[in-house]
Amino acid sequence: MSATINLEKKHFPVLLDELISILSPLYGGTFIDCTFGQGHYSKKILEFKENKIIALDRDKDVHPKSKLLKEKFKNRFQFYNIKFSQIKNLNLDTSYLKGIIFDLGYSTIQINDPKKGLSFKNKSKLNMKMGINDFSAHEVIHNLGFDEINKIIKYFGDEAKSKLISRKIVNLRKTNNINTEQLVKIIDSIKRKNPKKINNATKTFQALRIFVNKEISELIYGLINSYKILPVGGIIAVVTFHSLEDKIVKFFFKNYSEIQNKSRYLPKVKDQKILFKLKSKKPIYPSEEEVQMNSPSRSAKLRYGIKLSHNSDFDDFIKKFQYLLDIENMSEKI
Ligand SMILES: C[S@@+](CC[C@H](N)C(=O)[O-])C[C@H]1O[C@@H](n2cnc3c(N)ncnc32)[C@H](O)[C@@H]1O
Repeated sequence: MSATINLEKKHFPVLLDELISILSPLYGGTFIDCTFGQGHYSKKILEFKENKIIALDRDKDVHPKSKLLKEKFKNRFQFYNIKFSQIKNLNLDTSYLKGIIFDLGYSTIQINDPKKGLSFKNKSKLNMKMGINDFSAHEVIHNLGFDEINKIIKYFGDEAKSKLISRKIVNLRKTNNINTEQLVKIIDSIKRKNPKKINNATKTFQALRIFVNKEISELIYGLINSYKILPVGGIIAVVTFHSLEDKIVKFFFKNYSEIQNKSRYLPKVKDQKILFKLKSKKPIYPSEEEVQMNSPSRSAKLRYGIKLSHNSDFDDFIKKFQYLLDIENMSEKI
């Protein structure tokens, strides 16, 4: 799912006003928009006269939108078709950097594109590549074993019925090429329909998308590398849409914004650095008006931190989520 939601085919940015108010673009500066998408965040920041945007997106299909902003804002706008985990490779002069923003997930345009095979609503090949990928969801479903498929659906989708779904996938693929429609049928045959709950297929599709796009390592290294290039005083702001991403972002900000004492009986860790100032430990949610206008935005959360000092050791962050990185690394078996 995406942090920026959709009505029909249009893309509506979520939490845009809240994001603008914490970035204070009015006072001028350079910002990196790590998830350019349809460019709503970038454009809004550029409307404040002194600002520059460096925009990234892994999907080259956003080029028409990035071209429009280039024509309008000239040297105040630069676009790079890269994954945000690679942000350090750009070798930018980041001394003027005021903030780095992430709006995780996919855009409406991507979910509605049948070529991308991201949606359980369109009948298409199970693709799910957002851009710059090594393999598709079709290869995951047809090449990995039962255990691997089960782990992906269980941990990346938080799907209680992962075993039954994986068993049926492995049986059906012996005789069929499984596409989006057949995968939905498998899931519907296992899960009871509940009109009040999310679609039966949501969790499994989310799990496959996270795996195909290596979204766990993208997020972890996107955050770490953003931190490394950001000057002290700069902001990192992240909009998440589901609990797995939020868990990672919450830990990143919280773990490095207060002294971590494993036990109250142990002496305080002296040389531990505080890396962020947080205005609040709680996330910012969309307003009632926004949720009313755009109901799926109710799942979005915005968290941010202001950089206080330099650090290069993020071992405990990586260790905390190593079990998810290990699942992602199963892709070597494809
Ligand atoms: C929710 S949309 C962003 C929408 C954008 N904020 C706007 O205002 O239009 C997310 C975008 O991030 C891109 N994306 C997702 N993961 C990425 C990654 N690891 N590196 C670069 N871009 C990524 C997707 O291709 C998609 O275009």
